[in-house]
Amino acid sequence: MQKILILYYSQSGQLTEIVKNFAKPFEKSNNYSVHYANIEPVREYNFPWKGYEFFDSFPESVNRIPCEIKPLDLGNEDFDLIVFAYTVWYMSPSIPSNSFLLSDQAKRIFKDKPVITLLGIRNMWIIAQEYVKNKITENGGKLIGNIVLRDRAENLTGIATISYFLFTGKKDRLFGFFPKPGISQKDIDESDKYGDIVKNSIENNQIDSLQDDLLDNKAVTVNPYLLSVEKTAAEKFFKIWANFILKKGGPGNPNRKGRVNLFRWYFPFAILVIAPLKYVFFLIFAIFRIRKSREEVKYYLGVQSKSNF
Ligand SMILES: Cc1cc2nc3c(=O)[nH]c(=O)nc-3n(C[C@H](O)[C@H](O)[C@H](O)COP(=O)(O)O)c2cc1C
Repeated sequence: MQKILILYYSQSGQLTEIVKNFAKPFEKSNNYSVHYANIEPVREYNFPWKGYEFFDSFPESVNRIPCEIKPLDLGNEDFDLIVFAYTVWYMSPSIPSNSFLLSDQAKRIFKDKPVITLLGIRNMWIIAQEYVKNKITENGGKLIGNIVLRDRAENLTGIATISYFLFTGKKDRLFGFFPKPGISQKDIDESDKYGDIVKNSIENNQIDSLQDDLLDNKAVTVNPYLLSVEKTAAEKFFKIWANFILKKGGPGNPNRKGRVNLFRWYFPFAILVIAPLKYVFFLIFAIFRIRKSREEVKYYLGVQSKSNF
């Protein structure tokens, strides 16, 4: 009997649904036992979000500052495979998921274990995944597969619809004509196919080629333009803003209200003005970056870390 641990944190239930579908092929077999571990912060992040709370979670997300989480009941903590399912907040793993990665319990359970990451996000996940890859390695685990379910809407449309979803909790069509927010129901329903691929690779002793099999089934895609936006935002502007806000105190501290509210104005400006400008520059210089861009895409589709790249 192979023991599979699935760690996850989901606010709306979108990632929970993906996790449950992914696990179906294992649940159906007598050769596996699946243990679900729901990461729970001591102080809940309310869903749907209130405007100020959404932006107040920005500095801790970006600087990867953990919150207090409840210890997970994982029995003897010995599993054959670990699935780390997470969402992305401000191009970092969500604060509760990151808090688990930084915990002592994570150090114990990841040690010498194969790990699969399963993401349910909008469309910007690469910088977060680089960080998660490193944390899994630091905790002694080995990343063997990565699956990313994303919103397929065009970037600006997706920003409008996910904002509607996050601030109202509704997954219907904004103004009756926008696409439905988040990951399509079809993609969510079909995520059991990735469970099948993982199960087959375990049973055929082909774990080493698992990521290639997943890629053949479009488990991950990398968009070079979005990658360039992520690099500029996450590695430059986000850090500056996060440190600027953190100088006035931690989460909920009234002293930082002014700075959080300033960021609240900057954020839509960055999306509506800076990101489209970036797109123009991206197109102009794309021809000079073709080779580098291809190498980057290949790297980010994979599961290896920069150190052995
Ligand atoms: C505060 C916050 C920031 C987010 N930032 C990103 C992001 O940078 N990239 C992205 O692809 N999705 C982002 N999302 C969307 C989430 O990754 C996720 O898809 C959505 O919150 C639904 O997840 P759930 O299963 O927890 O409800 C963000 C969501 C929240 C709440």
